Amino acid sequence: MLTLAVCGASGRTGGMVVAAIAASTDVRLVAATCRAGSERVGRDAGAAAGVRDLAVPLAPLDGAPITDADVVIDFSSPAALADLLPRLRPGQALVTGTTGLDAAGREALVARAADGPVLEASNFSPGVAVLVDLARRAVSALPGYDVEIIEAHHRHKVDAPSGTALTLAHAVCAARGLDPALALRHGRHGAAGPRPGPEIGVHALRGGGVVGEHEVWIVGDTERVSLGHSATTRAAFAEGALRAARWLAGRPPGTYRLSDALGLTSL
Ligand SMILES: NC(=O)c1ccc[n+]([C@@H]2O[C@H](COP(=O)([O-])OP(=O)(O)OC[C@H]3O[C@@H](n4cnc5c(N)ncnc54)[C@H](OP(=O)(O)O)[C@@H]3O)[C@@H](O)[C@H]2O)c1
Repeated sequence: MLTLAVCGASGRTGGMVVAAIAASTDVRLVAATCRAGSERVGRDAGAAAGVRDLAVPLAPLDGAPITDADVVIDFSSPAALADLLPRLRPGQALVTGTTGLDAAGREALVARAADGPVLEASNFSPGVAVLVDLARRAVSALPGYDVEIIEAHHRHKVDAPSGTALTLAHAVCAARGLDPALALRHGRHGAAGPRPGPEIGVHALRGGGVVGEHEVWIVGDTERVSLGHSATTRAAFAEGALRAARWLAGRPPGTYRLSDALGLTSL
């Protein structure tokens, strides 16, 4: 039986991971974290996620038996992830979906991969992995066309653009041989001027309860190709994260990709 800890278990996505664990017979939850001082500390993680009691209380990072788990699944915040990394035991596997990491956060994650396997993805939905592959192929096949990336998320999301939009943007840049630092244009306002060809526009919409929408426009003078993905429930992320955790357990230290875990050979 694979044992799992969930960091951010009281959150919207972490709660879905807890629910997915409760619905699975081959994995067991052994630790679940929330913010220190949260009113949910001590509440059962399964009950808090709206499923059956799992006899695992929500606890702050320093009070949860995280090292008992084969794999830690993290959907929290950059600050919580920074706090989690030094608490992992050597060799312990980490699946993380937390977005909005700054350079130091990214560096810490890369450093952790020397001590244990790390699988990070900005979007754990299998459909998005396919979208990234399709976008890469489409922009290569349509070299002179303009590319714009549009994303929409719920009003609570704190980072923009989404990690998934950035993954798409970086994949498009790689396919076109562009440097993302120079090519990405985040929104337009005022006297923006004519659109330079190599620019990749990235636009973030926020509102209501939108789970996650991503669209890639590939626009020529006579036609537009649009590729899109809509997440209808966070269960897609939870399922992808669980599949990643099953695949990552017991692997040697290093950085792994979701596409490997999902068996998407072309990604
Ligand atoms: N990669 C993907 O597929 C994917 C999908 C969805 C979301 N995400 C990302 O996952 C993260 C969580 O998203 P969400 O919508 O689930 O957020 P959320 O509902 O706000 O949940 C955040 C969770 O992290 C905990 N947390 C936050 N800051 C903390 C801190 N400083 N110390 C300890 N615990 C802390 C929260 O605890 P409390 O409940 O006690 O505040 C809560 O359990 C975000 O970065 C989001 O962009 C990624």
